[in-house]
Amino acid sequence: MKIAMIGTGYVGLVSGACFSDFGHDVICVDKDASKISALEDNIMPIYEPGLDALVARNVDAGRLSFTTSIEAVKNADAIFIAVGTPSRRGDGHADLSYVYAAAAEIADHCASHAVIVTKSTVPVGTGDEVEHIMREQAPEKNISVVSNPEFLREGAAIDDFKRPDRIVIGSEDEDASQVMREIYRPLFLNESPLLFTGRRTAELIKYAANAFLATKITFINEMADLCEKVGANVQDVSRGMGSDNRIGSKFLNAGPGYGGSCFPKDTLALMKTAQDYDSPMRIVESVVQVNDSRKRAMGRKIIEAIGGDARGKKIALLGLTFKPNTDDMRDAPSIAIVGALEDAGAHICAYDPEGMQVAADMMPQVEMKQDAYEAAQGADALAIVTEWDIFRALDLERILSSMNGNILVDLRNIYNASDMTDIGFSYTSVGR
Ligand code: UDX
Repeated sequence: MKIAMIGTGYVGLVSGACFSDFGHDVICVDKDASKISALEDNIMPIYEPGLDALVARNVDAGRLSFTTSIEAVKNADAIFIAVGTPSRRGDGHADLSYVYAAAAEIADHCASHAVIVTKSTVPVGTGDEVEHIMREQAPEKNISVVSNPEFLREGAAIDDFKRPDRIVIGSEDEDASQVMREIYRPLFLNESPLLFTGRRTAELIKYAANAFLATKITFINEMADLCEKVGANVQDVSRGMGSDNRIGSKFLNAGPGYGGSCFPKDTLALMKTAQDYDSPMRIVESVVQVNDSRKRAMGRKIIEAIGGDARGKKIALLGLTFKPNTDDMRDAPSIAIVGALEDAGAHICAYDPEGMQVAADMMPQVEMKQDAYEAAQGADALAIVTEWDIFRALDLERILSSMNGNILVDLRNIYNASDMTDIGFSYTSVGR
């Protein structure tokens, strides 16, 4: 199959590279010439484990290429739209201008028979609008519009793509469904289920899944707060709940609140869609609100741990990205935590294995350090904000001896309380 992928962001690049690894012929298109020329030199615009090797292998095999020219869509059997859909400034609705602009350009250049697939996360009804653009712009062409949402986690995106729990395909057109079946045939042989639905249903499934996962996290986070008040242990609560198959153990880790490129944006967009259709989703509205206030509350938690006054105190943060194995800082809890600590008069230094370059622009007052040990030096308190593996086996005695104080705030519950107390830390975690 010949595939064109519009957009070489996270989703477009991972999907394009994985499709080429299945043996399809893939061309990735992006307007950003510097990004395309970097990709041609095998320099990835994002940090994703294994992506550079996957891209290099398929470029060498002649199955994957990059271009800035939209004309590349002219020979494609399927054209995927994987451009950004950021939250629109002011109202939280998904900004679809990039999707619609891509659709109009595709209509001008695609073959007379083509399948257009929206992979970007788009609100329900966007496929209808893309179809409308196609009809207006290229009435002589026979173009089908399909919804095929992605469910990729950053840091595990290649594995998620190649071993998905399901592939959702929303289409009302049997010929287009057949093209999609052919594209995903290698996965189907691996017994990954293909779920065919109506297009609007497929669009909604993506939001439903992300909002539900965000709700699960927010539920356990509030449970953690209650555990702290009543003297219970949230990790055990999580285990006790999660071993019920109806609930499931995943996404029940309490922490500083969810961040990233999907959950914050998608919960907000679903909430707005539901309000627009006069069918408000109050649970999702609460999740958004609770999660937002939680991030800043984590700053206050650190301040309480050091006795309530952070003025002039030196606080070291380990981890800044919204989760490990990514350099993504979008809606990371660290941003709100740094804000709260700086407002309280603290001096902050930090170390993150991949996120410091992006973070430095977002938090210019924070002193970025070379590693965890350098960050901890002379600190009154140390806080683990993101659970990178490298923070799971630190030489904590060495860290403690170099600090000015002995406060350790573990916002990801990666250490054991009694071990930390034995070493000499005054240790606080989440919900334990
Ligand atoms: C998510 C979805 O998992 C993926 O299917 C979708 O396509 C895109 O959004 P991602 O944002 O990459 O993926 O990360 P994910 O691993 O889902 O974590 C999201 C946030 O939730 C992170 O901030 C993480 O720290 C937090 N989280 C996750 C918790 O706080 N507790 C958990 O138990 C799980």
